[in-house]
Parts: sequence; C-alpha cells; structure tokens
Amino acid sequence: MSLSANVQNLTILGSTGSIGVNTLDVVRRHCGRYRVVALCAHRQVDRLFAQCLEFQPRHAVVGDPLLAETLASRLKAAGCATAVAHGPAALVRMAELPDVDVVMAAIVGAAGLPSTLAAAVAGKKILLANKEALVMAGAVFMRAVRDNGATLLPIDSEHNAIFQSLPRDYAGDPTASGVLGLWLTASGGPFRARTVADLVSVTPEQACAHPNWVMGRKISVDSATMMNKGLELIEAHWLFNVPAEKIQVVIHPQSIVHSLVQYADGSVIAELGNPDMRTPIAHALAYPHRIAAGVAPLDLFQVASLQFEPPDLQRFPCLALAYRALRDGGSASATLNAANEVAVQAFLDRKIGFTAIPRVSAEVMDRIPAGVALESLADVLEADRRARDMAAHCMTKLARK
Ligand SMILES: NC(=O)c1ccc[n+]([C@@H]2O[C@H](COP(=O)([O-])OP(=O)(O)OC[C@H]3O[C@@H](n4cnc5c(N)ncnc54)[C@H](OP(=O)(O)O)[C@@H]3O)[C@@H](O)[C@H]2O)c1
Repeated sequence: MSLSANVQNLTILGSTGSIGVNTLDVVRRHCGRYRVVALCAHRQVDRLFAQCLEFQPRHAVVGDPLLAETLASRLKAAGCATAVAHGPAALVRMAELPDVDVVMAAIVGAAGLPSTLAAAVAGKKILLANKEALVMAGAVFMRAVRDNGATLLPIDSEHNAIFQSLPRDYAGDPTASGVLGLWLTASGGPFRARTVADLVSVTPEQACAHPNWVMGRKISVDSATMMNKGLELIEAHWLFNVPAEKIQVVIHPQSIVHSLVQYADGSVIAELGNPDMRTPIAHALAYPHRIAAGVAPLDLFQVASLQFEPPDLQRFPCLALAYRALRDGGSASATLNAANEVAVQAFLDRKIGFTAIPRVSAEVMDRIPAGVALESLADVLEADRRARDMAAHCMTKLARK
C-alpha cells in the first residue's frame, strides 16, 4: 500500500536502460501521481547519479561494491540522501519494499528473473518489460502472480496491444472469450530484405541499427535475428494462455499496428500508434486510466499504407526455434533463452558471426533434452546454467572450425 491513496510508489529495475529512461520520461510528466522510491541499475553510474539527483529516490542499486561506493560518495557530496546498495539481493529487496506499489521490470536478460519474480511473490503491480523472465520461468512466474494476487501488465508493445485488444475481463480462456488467435506483428528488423549470404558478414553496429525502435543492444540483436519475436511468442503464450499454433507472426515493416486479436465473429481488434515505448509504459502505469505519454499523435495520412507479409523461417531460423521450444515444453524455453543470451553477447563481442547465433542456439537445444517441467526458481536457474555451459562449449567448437 502506498502512503497516499493517490500517489503510486515505484521501483524501477533497469532505470538506466532504454525502457528505464522512457519510464522516467513518463513519470516526469506526472510527478504528482508517481513517486520513485528505488532506482536500480548495473554499471552506468553517471546516468544513475543524474537520475537520483532529479527523482530523489530513497534507494539506488548498482552492480558491485566499488560502483556503490563511488555513487554513494558522489550523492553525499551533492546533498542527496539516497541510500546505495549493490548486487542481486539488493535488487530483490527493492522489488519487495512494502511501500512500493508498482515495479517496472526492465533489466535485460536472465539477470532480471529473481527480482521480477520477487515482485510477483510480493503481490506487486508488475510492468513487465523483461520478457526473458517469463520465457525462462513461464509456469513458475505465472503461478507466483496468481497465488500472490500480483497484477501483470505487459510493456512489450505487441503484448500491450494484445492486452488492450482483449476483453477487459479476459481470464485466460481464449475460447470462452471468442478468441480465435493472435497476430503478433514484427518489423522484420534491419535485415528484413537481406539474403542469407548477406547476413554472414553483418556487424554488431548494423544489427543494432533498428529501423523503427531505439532499444538496448541485446534486444536490438534479437530483433535482427528475429529471436526477439520468438521470445515474444513464448511470452504471449504465457501471458494470454494461447497455444503456439494460434499465435501467428506477421511482418509489418511500419511498426504502426502493434498486434491484433482475431475473434470468432470475424472481428479483428488491434492497437495502433507511433512506435514509441512511452505509449505502452504510460498505458501500464496508469491502467485502467489514460495519461499523456509525450508521444506524437498518429497521423494516418502520413503513414498512408500498411504492409503485412509472412516471416521467412529460412532466413530467420530463430523464430522456428521458439516454436520448437514451446512444443518441447519443460526446460526448452529456458535453454533457448540462455543459449541465445550467450551467443548474442559473443556476437556483440565479435567472437562469432551473426549467423552463428541461431546455430549455437539450435545445437544447445539438440544437446539438452527438454526434460521435466521446471517447478521452482532453483530449477529454472539450473536449466539456465546448464544451457550457458553448453553454449560456451558449442562456441569453442565453432571457433576451432
Ligand atoms: N528497449 C525497448 O524498446 C524494449 C521493448 C520491449 C521490451 N524490452 C525489454 O525490456 C528489457 C530491457 O531492455 P532495454 O532495451 O531497456 O535494455 P538496455 O537498454 O540494455 O537496459 C538494460 C538495463 O538493465 C540493467 N542491467 C543489465 N545487466 C544487469 C544485471 N546483471 N543486473 C542488474 N541490472 C542489469 C542495465 O544497467 P546499466 O545500464 O547500468 O548497466 C540497464 O539499466 C529487455 O528484457 C527487453 O527485451 C525492451
């Protein structure tokens, strides 16, 4: 419960990232409505310092003790009373703070899982950007949300669009709501029109230059391989309880239609808007109300035309791997997520080529059987560790070839 009924107290996990910065931009426009209690980052101390001076949170968290010491002394010198902590346990504490109402989960990758799950166990309103948490731990995470009365609102623009296009009282039963299926839109990323041969030599800089969205480096590479859409497919399955065969990915290069729901009576309901993450962030922050996000109104005449085409699974095999992971069940999604994270980091570090990313992920999935269902955070973290070790092994083999 917040101290005041009108003000929502906020923890932002990943405040220095693209989603974190956009969240603070929306919050800045509605200072009387939201109070920032905790800002959590990893290594970008300068940016976190500036955020602390502006938003005066009670707590700030960074990745290690040295950075914490640096930040604490700078804040003290600047007369800012923010207490500084460090490390994964501090992230979990920030997600559980009793007076925090809303947790923005915007850490990138598996590192976000423990704190995002802690927010669910603490029954918070979770604004979920960290899709990897749900991909790794779908069943565990959704059970924690249900059992603890947490509220889960999707920040991914596609899932936020689907959420907005489903009935307000949707309770996870597509048939009862007359839902035939979901259309998950994808821009196709920077390499939509490239041939397989072209893809071999693309650089991290080219992969991170997304045509429509400004995002962090990991999700930018995921968009270029279309693994991002694969992770979103798994995310949509868990969020809306819709089976993989009823979720169709569609390439829509303009990124104006953010996703669609198809109903039994022939209706298709979609959410449209300019590609700006402040829209889903503002939607989730204010839900069920509406607040200004600072986003330019959509001009349909300027957009003029919208294209839709099927995805090419030959050129973008990551999407097929995600369908396979959902089919295999058990630990398969956690395995895929971990293998992809390791391979993407290796690509960003110029240790492997772009087309090796799906090869490493596929090989790790081939070598680690999906196994039994993951029942706890410990099970999920063990599956994640196994897949990371295997991915490292596969990449060593690749380097020797
Ligand atoms: N960007 C988008 O438009 C977008 C859209 C939809 C969904 N998402 C999802 O939102 C999440 C964040 O994406 P992003 O683009 O904002 O990423 P980003 O710009 O790379 O930011 C990542 C954030 O996580 C923090 N972080 C990284 N490693 C960490 C660790 N080990 N422990 C604690 N914090 C850590 C970073 O801190 P430092 O910067 O201080 O190191 C930063 O604040 C991802 O899951 C992504 O898939 C993003």
